[in-house]
Amino acid sequence: MIELAPSLLAADWMKLGEEIDRMLDTGVDLLHFDVMDAHFVPNLSFGPSLCKAVHQHFPQCHLDVHLMMDQPEKYVQVFADAGAETITVHREIAKDVGPVLDGIRQAGVRCGLSVKPGTPAESLLPYLDRLDAVLIMTVEPGFGGQKFMPEQVEKIRYLRAAGYRGVISVDGGVNLENAPLLAEAGATQLVMGTAYFKAKDPMAVAQAIRALG
Ligand code: DX5
Ligand code: ZN
Repeated sequence: MIELAPSLLAADWMKLGEEIDRMLDTGVDLLHFDVMDAHFVPNLSFGPSLCKAVHQHFPQCHLDVHLMMDQPEKYVQVFADAGAETITVHREIAKDVGPVLDGIRQAGVRCGLSVKPGTPAESLLPYLDRLDAVLIMTVEPGFGGQKFMPEQVEKIRYLRAAGYRGVISVDGGVNLENAPLLAEAGATQLVMGTAYFKAKDPMAVAQAIRALG
């Protein structure tokens, strides 16, 4: 089954509650929450207070927190307390991310690891057995609305060939055109910002993703 994870970054922030209500009405309850620190990526987004507010108003939402930040270990417990169900950190933040992943587990949260486009999938191998999810970036992280990088799809095939059976999520420029290719390569979760929240008919987008199987 392919899960759709709309990215809050592309929602209308002046109407956040309505946007999330509308998302739930399309049968989607997984919300991708992009945290940017202006160091690891050249942008700032939002933090734990907003995560907590969303969790309190919409406890039925599964919050998938993507930490695009240096020293994410300082914020793992804070986001766990704010209602995160999954916390994903980046492979690039340390030579060995093992202790950070262990910290996510200890906080009682599902654990994800992401690679930027320039980071090889091989760098994930030592950690695969302790991950719930891998997040393949198909744009340079930092901004929504960028163009999908098709050469990154090979990483999905590589991880499946390596025997990884957990969630493979894809983030950046995902739309209804490239979704079938991603599903075919072995992705099980698709993050969609622009292609979902800015769509004329998000219900049709959700249905098209469900139809992928
Ligand atoms: C990029 C973020 C993405 C982004 C995806 O740094 O990690 O989650 O919101 O947005 P779209 O789908 O518009 O590329
Ligand atoms: Zn993201």
